[in-house]
Amino acid sequence: MLVNGQTRVLGIFGDPVEHTLSPGMQNAVFEANHLNWIYLPFHVKPGELKKAVAGIKAFDMLGVNVTIPHKEKVVRHLDEVDGLANVIGAVNTIVNVEGRLIGYNTDGYGYVESLREETGFDAAGKNIVILGAGGAGRAILFTFLYNKKNAARSVVIANRTLRRAKRLVDEFKDKVGGAPLVAASLDKVDAHLAGADILINATSVGMMGKGEVNVGLKELPGHAIVSDIVYRPLETTLLKKAKARGLKIHGGLGMLAHQGALSFELFTLTLFPRPPLPIDIMKRAAIKALGTDLQ
Ligand code: ATR
Repeated sequence: MLVNGQTRVLGIFGDPVEHTLSPGMQNAVFEANHLNWIYLPFHVKPGELKKAVAGIKAFDMLGVNVTIPHKEKVVRHLDEVDGLANVIGAVNTIVNVEGRLIGYNTDGYGYVESLREETGFDAAGKNIVILGAGGAGRAILFTFLYNKKNAARSVVIANRTLRRAKRLVDEFKDKVGGAPLVAASLDKVDAHLAGADILINATSVGMMGKGEVNVGLKELPGHAIVSDIVYRPLETTLLKKAKARGLKIHGGLGMLAHQGALSFELFTLTLFPRPPLPIDIMKRAAIKALGTDLQ
């Protein structure tokens, strides 16, 4: 990569930021598309977020991604926020359009797109069970219900802390109106599995092999998909058990690649011709960045 006076700068703001895979993924895509762009990690402490966002304009950066713990707090510092990101209440992608900072959220769409690509799943008329009411859970939940045309038939959001799941359901009803949403406690989720078309783990349980999602997979119908947003390891214990039961599985690598690819698509909005969506390059770069101790 040749950096010169014309190189455009992009990056990711996070605290911590050391473990991010985004620089590896985005720079691989920039290189493949012969873009004179560079993507860097920026360690931004919570008290510095406002100044860091002002820096996007001051340095005329093309755009940035935003990760933990800034996704919600960054919203108030932007000039404009896209409809879905507004409903989710979190932004993971900021694009600098001639000095105006516009916020988007590609986490939910990244998940839904990857699920469609790998399993053909379409939410319309389906019963969905999501484990986890944290940032990832809410992005996925709201994305499934946002587009009324293919909205799910019912969604159960099950969380260890029931209060948090209930708050999410109330918040969604306030923002978007009546939706077929049920809050449940994680330890009682088995009662909702018999009619489920998909079970999604959107908690951090299973990350780095720590912990195990404890749900009764035998309650799920034979056509159900089991999906896990955890990508380290690529095949979690939950997915292994689902596979052993003969169920279709979907792992976290696709969401990672698709949310990055959708961010790239937003960064390139003003380019002509538009580069193709770089899903495969993202996946390969993510696997490389993750190292070889994946399985
Ligand atoms: P993220 O943005 O990655 O979703 P988060 O907002 O911290 O991160 O949420 C983590 C999710 O994983 C939450 O749903 C959390 O449940 P609580 O709301 O009860 O904390 C869930 N989670 C984390 N560790 C868990 C565990 N050991 N067992 C069950 N759920 C867990």
